[in-house]
Amino acid sequence: MRRTQRARRARRARRAGPASAPPRGNAGRGRWRPSSRLPARAVSGARAIVHCATDPRREVKVLSRLVEAAREAGVHHLVYLSIVGVDRIPFPYYKAKFAAERLLERSGVPWTIQRATQFHDLVASLTTAQRRLPGVVAPAGFRFQPVEVTEVAHRLAAAVRGEAAGRVPDMGGPRVHTAHELAELTLRSAGRTCRVRDLPLPGRTARAFRQGHNLAPDLATGTVTFAEFLAAREARGGRGGSTQADRAPAPSRPSKVARASCKGTGDPL
Ligand SMILES: NC(=O)c1ccc[n+]([C@@H]2O[C@H](COP(=O)([O-])OP(=O)(O)OC[C@H]3O[C@@H](n4cnc5c(N)ncnc54)[C@H](OP(=O)(O)O)[C@@H]3O)[C@@H](O)[C@H]2O)c1
Repeated sequence: MRRTQRARRARRARRAGPASAPPRGNAGRGRWRPSSRLPARAVSGARAIVHCATDPRREVKVLSRLVEAAREAGVHHLVYLSIVGVDRIPFPYYKAKFAAERLLERSGVPWTIQRATQFHDLVASLTTAQRRLPGVVAPAGFRFQPVEVTEVAHRLAAAVRGEAAGRVPDMGGPRVHTAHELAELTLRSAGRTCRVRDLPLPGRTARAFRQGHNLAPDLATGTVTFAEFLAAREARGGRGGSTQADRAPAPSRPSKVARASCKGTGDPL
């Protein structure tokens, strides 16, 4: 079995807990194959659903299966978590999220769509994912407004307690930073000194990011700053993030080039 598959299964098993663990309240756990129908009984009895699962290659298909089941089961409210700028940034995953939004709006199931800016751990992973490389680059001219995922979760919890509200105001983190600043903060929090080089990226997606379509500066309702996120993560003993890149195994020792260009404690980023 490939290492990535093993890691995914192990993660799933950890999340699922002991096989005999009963679901809490009327919450349930499960995984369905988007290629087949999701039976209505999987969601029957649920007044509302918050849809946070994501499958970048089949975002629309996964949501359409859930919508079919929700409609059949008479679910009163489906809350969908989306991303700020999906309608303006032609990144394939964002285009799929926007198509999923459209599908939900036309589904006949009462809906709420909450868009959020990038989560802290995703933004940190843009730097940590480069730990095998000789240096660190940041996309030139990009800015991010990272938000604390638990604050987004609270927003979703409030949404699901209420009635379907359509497209609600976007949610952004407290500050807008350049990608360069965020890379430097991430490096510093890991005790590394590494020069960050700005990498100009071509194409329409990069232009849309440079234009700031991923930002919501007037809706900066998150309170936890990126620096606070990093400090809390370090206090927990390192990365502790939840993205694929953050979970990637650290190299046993940095390469000669990495040692030459990145000085620090010797810990992985
Ligand atoms: N990350 C960000 O910066 C950000 C910002 C704004 C909005 N969002 C949105 O927030 C949501 C969560 O993002 P994330 O970055 O936290 O994603 P993530 O870490 O990749 O987690 C996605 C989850 O979806 C589960 N999943 C995928 N297909 C499934 C299926 N068929 N059945 C059951 N579970 C399934 C995955 O389970 P396995 O691990 O078992 O595969 C995983 O737990 C997404 O809708 C994303 O677009 C993310």
